[in-house]
Amino acid sequence: MAVTWIALHLTDRCQLDCQHCLRDPGRKPKDLSLDIVHKVLAESKRLYHTRQVALTGGEPTLHPEIEGVLDAIVEHDFTWHVVTNARRFEQFLALVRDDPARRERLTAVNLSLDGADEETHDGIRGKGSFRDVMKAVTLCTAHGIPFVLQMVLHARNVHQIEPFGLMAAQLGATRASFSILQATGTHHDEELYLPPRAWQNAQHRIERLAAALTVPVTMPEGFYREQPFHVCEPMKSELLHIDVEGRLNLCCQHAGVPSAGPPRDIAGDLATTSLLKAHGRLLGIIHETQAAKLAAMAEGSLDTWDHFPCNWCMKHFDKPHWANDGADGPSAQRERWRGAWAKKVTLPVVR
Ligand SMILES: C[S@@+](CC[C@H](N)C(=O)[O-])C[C@H]1O[C@@H](n2cnc3c(N)ncnc32)[C@H](O)[C@@H]1O
Ligand code: SF4
Ligand code: SF4
Repeated sequence: MAVTWIALHLTDRCQLDCQHCLRDPGRKPKDLSLDIVHKVLAESKRLYHTRQVALTGGEPTLHPEIEGVLDAIVEHDFTWHVVTNARRFEQFLALVRDDPARRERLTAVNLSLDGADEETHDGIRGKGSFRDVMKAVTLCTAHGIPFVLQMVLHARNVHQIEPFGLMAAQLGATRASFSILQATGTHHDEELYLPPRAWQNAQHRIERLAAALTVPVTMPEGFYREQPFHVCEPMKSELLHIDVEGRLNLCCQHAGVPSAGPPRDIAGDLATTSLLKAHGRLLGIIHETQAAKLAAMAEGSLDTWDHFPCNWCMKHFDKPHWANDGADGPSAQRERWRGAWAKKVTLPVVR
């Protein structure tokens, strides 16, 4: 085990309001400070010899000092990839393609594509966004930049697993990635919900697709596991995630997602704490989480949903999560566009 990459949540800003997004558009957006970017890159290189960084958000290309971030990557000699909605990809590419130091360190562009056709994707992400992604695919191809197509599955697009895989292969993606939807805690959950059996079915279809295609097909953390004790990438400390406020937290899926009580996924504010010290605290959080899972296993209290590691994890941290009849948890009725998350309004649990 080693820290192999760092993820930076660069900003909360975004031009889109995707139906499934965990971001709270009602909140005044924050941006990760450049000082923290430098500190994290310098410390992780010195401590762990880590050399890969991911830029995410919000929409990372909207960070007001994105050029400064790219310069930091070059200065600390990291390789990087970016996860983007592709809305301003052409402008972003202009900052990269003619700058050899930035360009040679770029390992991939991860494009979010939530449907294999315009209607499905735009229905989830907003008008024009399918075309943005297709244009970004063309630009990446023209400039020899490897790109990944990644899809978050849910009830509105689960029927498109196979066409999505074929499309990724046809377009020349280096990988097709399918993620399981995490409950948002908003009313959208009702429309997007899939029961455990449907997720297991989707998982089998993805496995069959992976066997049939030559393009690699991956499923990040979160899908059903027969064996409920699972140590994910963040819990192995293979990936360290820095939230938009410059804090080391457990993982990107927890960042900014409200919990019933005070957040327990945050290990330290890097403005005042070293990465090493915060990492030490993170190990304590991980240990407590894994011990709680073992205790639940010993009690025999796990249900089918608890075999989905991320869902169990969100529930453990008192955050929105799936249950047998839809979304549950303290935020299950929050309406994100009213900024309710930021105001920490506690609404009744829906069952
Ligand atoms: C938060 S976005 C940030 C980058 C960029 N804005 C984008 O959409 O690609 C990173 C990835 O998380 C995914 N995502 C957003 N909400 C999610 C949820 N509720 N469950 C699982 N993945 C989610 C997005 O679809 C996207 O692929
Ligand atoms: S998923 Fe990405 S593009 Fe969509 S609203 Fe969230 S941050 Fe923006
Ligand atoms: S939500 Fe929990 S289980 Fe899932 S990847 Fe993050 S830390 Fe791991």
